[in-house]
Amino acid sequence: MSSKPTVTIEPAPPGAATYDRGTIALHWLTAALVLILWLIGTFLEDLLPKGTLRTGIWSAHFDAGFVVAALIVGLLLWRRTRGRSLPVADPGPLHQLAKATYGALYGLLFAVVGLGIANAFVRGVPLVGSIALPQLGDAAWRRPLTQWHGLAANILMVLALFHAAAALVHHYLWHDTILRRMLPVKP
Ligand code: HEM
Repeated sequence: MSSKPTVTIEPAPPGAATYDRGTIALHWLTAALVLILWLIGTFLEDLLPKGTLRTGIWSAHFDAGFVVAALIVGLLLWRRTRGRSLPVADPGPLHQLAKATYGALYGLLFAVVGLGIANAFVRGVPLVGSIALPQLGDAAWRRPLTQWHGLAANILMVLALFHAAAALVHHYLWHDTILRRMLPVKP
């Protein structure tokens, strides 16, 4: 009988610096919602025929989109006020690359969310329950706004994939605490 290989991630060792709980919660909640919104935006039209279920899931995309907007602002405010700053282990070129990636991730998140919100108003989309946004602006903007929103979302996902791959390289190849300090486990 062969035993299954198990993948375990140990908590950071005692005394190691980890992010505070607010930063960890906001980080993973934002990441999860962004992934779900991208999956909906990319595959919904191909998977479901027109109908109430598809319209309902689009509404969930718009509602959750506003939640993501609030989470990003919350994450930035939290990081600048009460969030824990961690020491930089190696301030070399890899750290500069990581900082540039974070900047680009935030920039793209703002672009995706900004274009999504503009698109939602131009369309006057339905939100939760019987609430709908007022239709504002020129309806001719729908198409280009959807295309730009989708393109920015795809670039965001490529960068997020690179960001996640880097965290896994830190953990599995370099065996440092970079990934563990962003995990919701007590050191
Ligand atoms: C970062 C989070 C988000 C991601 C990853 C995302 C992703 C996507 C994707 C991939 C599409 C399909 C684009 C295409 O067909 O080319 C889409 C469509 C759309 N999104 Fe988002 N989105 C996000 C946030 C938002 C927000 C905040 C809003 C506004 C509240 C929004 C409103 C819309 C609208 C109105 C559409 C067009 C729906 C339709 O074609 O009927 N999105 N989104």
